[in-house]
Parts: sequence; C-alpha cells; structure tokens
Amino acid sequence: MSNSMWGGRFSEGPAAIMEEINASIDFDRKLYRQDIEGSKAHAAMLAAQGIIGADDAEKIREGLDTILREIEDGSFKFSRALEDIHLNIESRLKELIGDAAGRLHTARSRNDQVATDFRLYVRDVIDGVDAALHELQVVLADKAFAHAGQVMPGFTHLQSAQPVTFGHHLLAYVEMIARDRGRFQDARKRLNENPLGAAALAGTSFPIDRFATSAALGFDRPTANSLDSVSDRDFAIETLSAASLCAIHLSRFAEEIVIWSSAQFRFVRLSDKFTTGSSIMPQKRNPDAAELVRAKTGRIIGAETALKIVMKGLPLAYQKDMQEDKEQAFDAFESLELVIAATTGMVRDLEPEAANLKKAAGSGFSTATDLADWLVRVAGLPFRDAHHVTGRIVAIAAERGVELNRMPLADMQAVHGAITDAVYSVLTVDKSVKSRTSYGGTSPKNVRAQAKRWQRALAREAARRS
Ligand code: ARG
Repeated sequence: MSNSMWGGRFSEGPAAIMEEINASIDFDRKLYRQDIEGSKAHAAMLAAQGIIGADDAEKIREGLDTILREIEDGSFKFSRALEDIHLNIESRLKELIGDAAGRLHTARSRNDQVATDFRLYVRDVIDGVDAALHELQVVLADKAFAHAGQVMPGFTHLQSAQPVTFGHHLLAYVEMIARDRGRFQDARKRLNENPLGAAALAGTSFPIDRFATSAALGFDRPTANSLDSVSDRDFAIETLSAASLCAIHLSRFAEEIVIWSSAQFRFVRLSDKFTTGSSIMPQKRNPDAAELVRAKTGRIIGAETALKIVMKGLPLAYQKDMQEDKEQAFDAFESLELVIAATTGMVRDLEPEAANLKKAAGSGFSTATDLADWLVRVAGLPFRDAHHVTGRIVAIAAERGVELNRMPLADMQAVHGAITDAVYSVLTVDKSVKSRTSYGGTSPKNVRAQAKRWQRALAREAARRS
C-alpha cells in the first residue's frame, strides 16, 4: 500500500529496507512537544489570516491537545510506516477530527516544520543546560569559598610546581563554565529565528503572517531567506560545539578527580554515592562517575563531527541527509545533561583531605620559586641568577632528602652569601600562597574575594530567574 500521507502518485508501497532506512520516528518522536506547539501556532495564524476557518482551527487545536495527552500517557501508537513524528501526528489528527486535519498543512512543508521543531528543541536544551551549569557553578563556588585557604600542590607537567589553594583550583572551573554558558547563549541568539512559513523551500503564495507565528513560538523574528530557512543546521552545530567544549572541561575535571581520589594521591574523598566497589577486590572504591563523565565526552564530540560531515557537501535546500541531524544530537545533549548532573553531585559531596593536601603541597621543593623571588627582592639578584642559585640549593636539598624549609642556613649561605635566616619566612607553603596576591593569584584572600564575587553574581542571577 502506498503512503497515505503523500502516496498519491505511487502505486506500490516501499520495500521493507526502504522503510528501515527512511523512517525517523524511532528518534524524532522526541520532538512531539515542539511539533504540536508549532502546529498550534501555525493553525492559529492560518485562521487569523482567513486562510482556514476558525472552526477548523479550533478542531485542530483540540485534536492536537488530545494527541499531546496520548503521547504523554503512553497510549499513542507510533507507526514506522508513517515515517516521522510530523506524519504520525497528522495522521492521528485525521483519525480524531476528520477532514479539518488536512487543512493544517496549508502553506507549510515538513521541511520548514522540522527546522522549526528542531530549533525549538535545541532552544529548550540550551535553557536546561544553562540552568544546570548555573547550579554546578553555585556548588563549585560554595566549595571554593569553604576551602579558600586549603593549600594543595599546583602542577605543571603533572610535576609539583607551586602551592595553590583548593578553592583557587575549583574556581578555575567556575571560569570555564562561565565561558561555556556564554557560548550557549551566543548560539541561542542566532538560533532564535523562525523558519516556519518558508514552506518547502520557496515560501508560499498564501497570505501567511510569519511574524505572528514567530511571536507565538517565542522567536525574535522570522528567518529572512526561505532557502536558508530549510537548509540551515548551524544552530545545531553551534550548540553541539558549545556542548563539546563544555564536555571537555568536565572531562578534565573528572580526570583530576580520578587522580585525586587514587590511593597514591588521596587528595579528596568521594562520597559512596558516586563510587562503586569491585566484585573481587574488597578494598576498592572506584570513581566510576568521574570516569564516565570523562568518557562521554567522546560521543558528544562525535555528534558534532558527524553533523558537520553530514552538512558539508549538501547543496541547497533541504536534502534527506539532514534527517541525520537529530539522533546523535539528541544523544549528545542527553549525555551532556547527565555529565553535568553527575559532576554537580560529585562536587557537592567531595571532601578535600586537608592533611594530605598540605603535605603534598610542601613536597617536591614547591617553594623554590619563592626562594628565587626572595633573592631578587631582598638580596637584589637578577632573576636569572636567583634561579641558578636556587637550583643549586634544590640540588643539595634533594641529595640530603630534605625539603627547602628544613635546609640548614649555613648550607644555603655556602651557595650564596646574601642569604639570611629571614629566608625561612617565605619557604613554607602557607607563606607561599599568602604571598600570591597579584590579581587572579592564589592567595586565600584573593580566592575568598573571587568566590564571594561568584556567589553574589550567581545568587543575583537566580533571583532574576525566579
Ligand atoms: N523526517 C524528516 C527529517 O527529519 C522530515 C522532513 C522530511 N521532508 C521531506 N521532504 N521528506 O528531516
């Protein structure tokens, strides 16, 4: 049997394999809310413009509400033979209200319909992700404030570099997430134009009002070129790109959590809620949530790449290739929502192991730069010379197996005569972090101020929203 929705010129139905490759209903059913919302706006506009009767528009609206309920309570029967969400809904509408259903598709095509649905969907994703990232920032900023003075090793090349504070480290992620949120908001601005009414590709001869449907659907304005309207997927690519970078940030943090929670580091303790045991090794508390946050980045980046590859060779306007825009994007967005939630949960429960952090902060001659800086400041050495002198002192300390603050004064003086016992005042980790007062530096005072700044800004934002 030929397709009941578009089969007029067909005498035969599709091959089974054709249905298999062609049907998108298994994934695009996720667009049902947006599809119904778009159809309601379209029908109301058609009636307001006198293109369809008010009675038909009313029947369409009621029918669509019934379908919404059916889908949400699970009683709606999806059919693969009806290809996609648009035809599934329209076909059910016909069963429910009869001929009036056939008027809904006036001055519209599935091409502008799907472009509209997908934009609405991605816009909802952006708003949901933004709220979730706000929450993660709140949790990070609170934890940063609580541990603004907790020293820990700062690393470069994963080698002890200089002591920093735990709060400072967490605030680095608050900054990254702020940029992520900015990228999502940028994408949202460009996304928020309405393709509905572009019809198949050329616009329509019906006297439609695209500004009315734009207002009804919360779009800023209609898209200006009908060809671009139905063939553009930039909004999805841009959002996936923001999602990829956000996932990369969360993955880096997850990697740190994996390292920090290992028995060799013991920098933090994860709660039982975010760890698992081993079926054979009773001692284990594995950071599975962090590992999966790290791993899911792959599918998110993959979705961005896949859609770029789908789009790169397509001539204008709509091509069926574009149906491949959704499945991986949905998966990527759902994965991102999951990893943000998991990260937020982990951070909320995460406790720094103060004594271990402090001990590690002082190992590896982490105050060597402080010694060199002291030689510049107090003894007037050029920094390069101070670096060399310090290097020699570190070599002796390494040979003796002592940290810098335990080096006898006489041994340091043997390397450079200008060193006095005042030097010890800069060689402890607490003194070291306290001295890093330059803007953006790790001194506890700075970190407290930055954490406060974030807490206030995030609270103001929450107040604006509610
Ligand atoms: N299922 C299609 C998609 O996702 C809807 C648009 C179909 N348009 C068409 N002319 N066949 O892209």
